[in-house]
Amino acid sequence: MTLLTWNHACTVGVRAMDDQHGILMDAMNELRLAVVHGCGREQVSELLDRLIEFTRMHFWSEEQLMEQSGFHGLAEHRAQHHSILAQMLQSAHRVQYGEGVELGSILCSLREGYIEHIEGLDQQYGPWLNERGVH
Ligand SMILES: [Fe+2]
Ligand SMILES: [Fe+2]
Repeated sequence: MTLLTWNHACTVGVRAMDDQHGILMDAMNELRLAVVHGCGREQVSELLDRLIEFTRMHFWSEEQLMEQSGFHGLAEHRAQHHSILAQMLQSAHRVQYGEGVELGSILCSLREGYIEHIEGLDQQYGPWLNERGVH
């Protein structure tokens, strides 16, 4: 599992959202380090809960921006946010209660889903917002 680094494919072109994505990646890296260093379930759970809280806030911010600007892809985007959050909550539950759960593999699939979303759907609202003066 490698550290997540900022790259061009992750930039959406809206400053506040790019900043939030950076914070999310930092939080995921922190989580990865905790797992690599063999931190206990409790500590990993705590970091994951923090990541979930921040994710909720971030998804809400994006949805507000899309809603206010009348973005056509809002419903699809919101549905994907919903499924990512559901996956995160399920992972958090497994980390907290699952016996013999491999933390590394849970984290890996979480990160994959997240990055796929940032490099995929998140790229679509940037130009739309930019055209309406939001940078
Ligand atoms: Fe995002
Ligand atoms: Fe998003």
